[in-house]
Amino acid sequence: MKNDIIEILLTEQEINEIANKMGKQITEDYKDKDLLLVGLLKGCVPFMADLSRNIDLKLDIAYMAVSSYHGGINSSGDIKIKMDLDMSVKGRNVLIVEDIVDTANTIVTVTELLIHRGAKSVKIATLLDKPAGRQKVYVPAYIGKTIPKAFVVGYGLDYDEKYRNLPFVGILDPKVYIK
Ligand code: PRP
Repeated sequence: MKNDIIEILLTEQEINEIANKMGKQITEDYKDKDLLLVGLLKGCVPFMADLSRNIDLKLDIAYMAVSSYHGGINSSGDIKIKMDLDMSVKGRNVLIVEDIVDTANTIVTVTELLIHRGAKSVKIATLLDKPAGRQKVYVPAYIGKTIPKAFVVGYGLDYDEKYRNLPFVGILDPKVYIK
């Protein structure tokens, strides 16, 4: 599996440092607030596990499954809610946890939905930001690393459901998806 990666963008150690630093900042920023972390499955799972353990607050964690890629390498812009939250967001400070913001179609749509449902605030903590991919104007509140316009996998990010279990983030060899 690792042979399919042509360049490592974030090592395990760098990811740990990001989770630690971002977690401290979120702890400070939300210390007097009621915080609900919302993970967008499936890509959020490793970062949710690492980031949440670096936030020293009594918080809630909930998950939604939304999808926009449908197995390809380009976002379709067509967001589907495959599994909804199991708790109300009404009056709560929501921090969405993501592996990546690319076109921003997912985060803009989910933010609008949660505001519509009565969330007091909705922000995002994302491991990766790919501003070159944007189709909507959106600036994430917490960004681990800004990356170039390349197709990346690992640490939750997949290509056709594979590579999520890589412990680092890397650029996938185009040979894998250009047939
Ligand atoms: C990925 C990623 C984000 C979204 C970002 O999820 O986890 O949720 O795409 O892309 P965007 O900014 O272009 O909307 P995906 O829909 O592939 O589902 P997954 O998390 O199950 O891999």
